[in-house]
Amino acid sequence: MTDFAKTRAQFRLPDGVIYLDGNSLGPLPIAAEARVARTISAEWGQQLIRGWNTAGWMSWPRSIGDRVARLIGAPSGSVVMGDTLSIKVFQALAAAAALRPERRIILSDSGNFPSDLYIADGLLTALGQGYRLKVVAPEEVEDALDDSVAVMMLTQVDYRTGRLHDMAALTAKAHAAGAVTVWDLAHSAGALPVELETCDVDFAVGCTYKYLNGGPGAPAFIYVAPRLAAIAQPILSGWMGHAAPFAFDLDYRAGPGIERMRVGTPPIIALAALDAALDVWDGVEMADVRRQSILLSTLFIAEVEARCPSLTLASPRDADTRGSQVSFRHPDGYAVMQALIDRGVIGDFRAPDCLRFGFTPLYIGEAEVLDAVATLERILTEGSWDQPRYRQKAAVT
Ligand SMILES: Cc1ncc(COP(=O)(O)O)c(C=O)c1O
Repeated sequence: MTDFAKTRAQFRLPDGVIYLDGNSLGPLPIAAEARVARTISAEWGQQLIRGWNTAGWMSWPRSIGDRVARLIGAPSGSVVMGDTLSIKVFQALAAAAALRPERRIILSDSGNFPSDLYIADGLLTALGQGYRLKVVAPEEVEDALDDSVAVMMLTQVDYRTGRLHDMAALTAKAHAAGAVTVWDLAHSAGALPVELETCDVDFAVGCTYKYLNGGPGAPAFIYVAPRLAAIAQPILSGWMGHAAPFAFDLDYRAGPGIERMRVGTPPIIALAALDAALDVWDGVEMADVRRQSILLSTLFIAEVEARCPSLTLASPRDADTRGSQVSFRHPDGYAVMQALIDRGVIGDFRAPDCLRFGFTPLYIGEAEVLDAVATLERILTEGSWDQPRYRQKAAVT
């Protein structure tokens, strides 16, 4: 059994704050402070360029990739870290489309994160040749899978509502239609059990600044099924993915296996923070995280519905079809969320009207859920959210 008191003690959470936004940016793991300081002073400071060899920096994208692999049901050697998630979406989608050169449709859904759709659009424009992005409603994906679809590209958990796709069923359906699959795990990795290998997923990508607590802008990851790793073309053919980067050949030769999905120089300081953040996961069972997250989100829904009648549930009621976040709609959702944050309960807002709350058992328990709902109820009953200062839109919502 996972010891959640132990995991909680490993985070630095400010006094007086209830943090329900780990689905957007995880909090600071205490060990990351010393780890980053060590990388800066003892490694960069003392070892200078030698650090690539002496501190092992060069292999971190792979070794840290292996640590992430354990959390997403992927075998060792199938995940590599680097770049941002948007870049990894581009890379995975391009490689996937190249595996079905005779097909022209990239299938996605309207619950996907806009950046994934923008990236797909940009890639398909660059490819030309009649490629088309087809976006359907989430519940229509299955029926839209036919022999024109080259790639099914989906985000498993809807960033706005928390709706959870059935990865096993959709992947099997896509394969039966002859399509290649790309799954975005931004809201799944560290939130719920993911079984990439068991589900026979082809490509997966994700970020590490949400449930994995790697820090703002932490490096992304990409998974390539081992059966495809030697044939998938990296497209972003940077020197770090070359078979021999320090041979400085003028021609590109893709590196072995997942190595080829590396692009350029890895962000070492950010990787140091992420590596420390992953220490928290040692001894954590994802099944325990899921059980506890369902308990917390179900409690939150019941309490909000009982005490805050002006809010409407935007997330699936059935916990089995929900990720680790819950959203409620309110016509003035932005102002309500700002008032809540002002009182120390931090969630976030997604246009047009969603108040979003993430449930992260590593550092959130039932007491926080009940306190958060009490504050929400007070704000709504008093109407104290209805002030011009809470309507002032900030750059990041
Ligand atoms: C599902 C999903 N995909 C892609 C992105 C974009 O990630 P990045 O900004 O790291 O490129 C996000 C960001 O939150 C996301 O939630």
